[in-house]
Amino acid sequence: MRNIIITIDGPAASGKEKISKYISKKWKLKHLDSGIIYRRLALVLLKDKVNIKNVNQIKKKLKEISNVSFQKSRRIRTQEISNLASKIAVYNFVRIFVNKLQYKFVENNKNNQGFVIDGRDIGSVVFKKANLKLYIEVKPEIRAKRRYKQLIDSGEKSIYRKILKEITLRDQKDKVRKHSPLIIPKGAYIIDNNGTFNKTVKQINKLIEII
Ligand code: C5P
Repeated sequence: MRNIIITIDGPAASGKEKISKYISKKWKLKHLDSGIIYRRLALVLLKDKVNIKNVNQIKKKLKEISNVSFQKSRRIRTQEISNLASKIAVYNFVRIFVNKLQYKFVENNKNNQGFVIDGRDIGSVVFKKANLKLYIEVKPEIRAKRRYKQLIDSGEKSIYRKILKEITLRDQKDKVRKHSPLIIPKGAYIIDNNGTFNKTVKQINKLIEII
C-alpha cells in the first residue's frame, strides 16, 4: 500500500476527526483535515476585519496569503469560526484556493505511505479517484450530545440545544450550497457512527484491509 488516499466525508461533528486520526495511526497514513484550512482562512478574515459578504475584499485578501498553517488550535474551534468557515465555504474561488493547498500537501508528502483526508467534498470533488471513500453517518442528536460532552469535559460552558441548532444549521448550509455541497460521494461506503467507536472502526478496518 503506497500513496493510497482514503477520503472521509460527513456532516459537522460526525466524528471525522477522531476516525481520521485513528486510521492515520493504525495504517500509517498522513492525515489532512481540510476543515482546518477553511477555519484558518476564516480566522484571517475575521482578524483583518474583511467583510465576508464582499467577494472582492475576500479575493484581495486571498491574494495576500502565501501560506496557511494546517495546525489545529483552540482559536479556530470556536462557534464563531465554525460559522464563518461555513459562510466562506460557499464561494467557489475560496474552495479552489483550499483545494490547491490540499493538492500541494499531497504532492509534498508523496513519499508517504498515503493519506487520510477528511472534509465535506473530499471524495466527491477534491480526490474523486481515491482508493477508498467513506461517508460518516450519525443522527444530529447524537452528534450534538457528543460535542456537548466534549466541551463540558474540556471545562467549557455549553448548552446542548444551542449545539444541536448550530450543527443542524451548518449541515443545512453545507448541503444546499451550489458549489461542492455535502453529498454521499459516488462509490463511497456509508459508515454508521451512531454506536461505539469500536463498532465504527471495525467497519472501516474491514474495508481498508481489502484495498
Ligand atoms: O470540518 P469542520 O467542521 O472543521 O469544517 C468547518 C466548515 O468548513 C464546515 O462547516 C464546512 O462549511 C467547511 N468545509 C467545507 N469543505 C471541506 C471542509 C470544511 O466546506 N472539505
